[in-house]
Amino acid sequence: MPPISRRSALLLGGLGVTGTVAGGVGLWRSLNSQPAPVTGESLGQPATLTSTGGALAASLEAAPGRFPLAGLQAGALGYNGGIPGPTLRLRAGEALRLKLVNKLAEPSNLHLHGLHVSPQGNSDNVFVTVDPGSSFDYEYRLPAGHPPGLYWYHPHHHGRVAAQVSGGLFGAIIVEDPVPVAAGTERVLLVSDTSLDGAGNVAEASLPERMAGRVGALLLVNGQSNPRMTARPGERERWRIVNCCVARYLRLRLDGQKLQLLGMDSGRSQSPSDVQEVLLAPGNRAELLVTAALGQSELRAVPYDRGAMPGMGRRGMGPGGPAGQEGAEDPAGTTLATLVVAGDPAPPAPVIAAGPAPPELRSAAVAARRQLVLATPMGPGQGGGMGPLMGMDFTINGLAFDERRTDTIVAAGTVEEWILVNRSTMDHPFHLHVWPMQLIAENGRAVEKATLRDVVNVPANGQVTVRIDFRDFTGRTVYHCHILDHEDLGMMGVIEVR
Ligand code: C2O
Ligand code: CU
Ligand code: CU
Repeated sequence: MPPISRRSALLLGGLGVTGTVAGGVGLWRSLNSQPAPVTGESLGQPATLTSTGGALAASLEAAPGRFPLAGLQAGALGYNGGIPGPTLRLRAGEALRLKLVNKLAEPSNLHLHGLHVSPQGNSDNVFVTVDPGSSFDYEYRLPAGHPPGLYWYHPHHHGRVAAQVSGGLFGAIIVEDPVPVAAGTERVLLVSDTSLDGAGNVAEASLPERMAGRVGALLLVNGQSNPRMTARPGERERWRIVNCCVARYLRLRLDGQKLQLLGMDSGRSQSPSDVQEVLLAPGNRAELLVTAALGQSELRAVPYDRGAMPGMGRRGMGPGGPAGQEGAEDPAGTTLATLVVAGDPAPPAPVIAAGPAPPELRSAAVAARRQLVLATPMGPGQGGGMGPLMGMDFTINGLAFDERRTDTIVAAGTVEEWILVNRSTMDHPFHLHVWPMQLIAENGRAVEKATLRDVVNVPANGQVTVRIDFRDFTGRTVYHCHILDHEDLGMMGVIEVR
């Protein structure tokens, strides 16, 4: 019997994953020697489920199994037998009914990241627990004016979020444009990273890796390693990119091609802007327009310094080798995918119709101002008694997450201004459920353009000011660091809008 680590056993459950490996001795040998990832396959797209007659009803079954990751048969977790899970496509004003079936060996639940829907009852309620072997019927109603764009879903069971997402549980949600954007080919690119142990199972992270934020050795797009895309010169493509990594920042470049940013997180800008690169913190999304130019180009994640834990030196700079070896990364970065442009030129792409003006809160009356301090003080901590580093806490305003406590009470229908302060030596990507945040200032510099985000990066020892319009819904939900290990370690608070 091949060895299976205790942590992998916990994550994968007793579902015969080790038996599968033992049954195929050749497979087991190849997994144990960690063969090189398979690269250069044609980029695949997740299965798609599309709404009809005003609603989308589907089941999502979360289960362990063997899945192709980087072309290897890995012991991992998937929704409906795939990594990523199916892409859900629907329109503003529609209903989404999802039955979550939990076939994992541990509790889970479901969160729709970035969607503006109710956090109560069986809607986007992160306090729901779906036990192993049971199921839960979620029902979400998108308001009529819901912004179009790219969103995603993932588990949100506190303490196990990072393990389940890096295990393979994530998928895209697309809210269709009311006015179509002219682009020949549309692709969904879900970027994730994961590490496999000696038996080819998704590895769990050590406590120091969790405190830094785990970074997987394999950097994947739709579960593939450096897949290949082809296009004709002059063709316009729309790439919908999600950063599903637990902790890795993606500073993306596509040198040699014309790159335009159509939108980030939710909605779209009035007109696309030319960009050289785009930075996605964990949880962020980008909608890019690529106008193909003859030749071959690589979509690369180039180094980004997200800081380090005290005493750990520089680390955590995104792309590079396995966790703990990031300092040795290549300044040219890691290739995520390759675009090959060849053949007859395509006819010129049509002009893109202007989008609506973005919402603007800078002239709004501010009902309350708050400060939220993100910190990693030394204390008893999660690993108490194992030396000073092991005793790091992850707090917001001095407190680690407790779901029974309500940290912030907001009057429904008001606009608030929050100063997000980072008193630690690592960046923290701050995420609020349900209501998007408008960037007002970053490290004292005013943000000139109306910019909405649902994940805002708060730089190490820096601060960001945002405004939030608490409209449409009431109820209890959360805000947290979207380095999912930090969320699991306590950097999360409860908000109630009433
Ligand atoms: Cu993407 Cu609270 O999460
Ligand atoms: Cu979210
Ligand atoms: Cu954090």
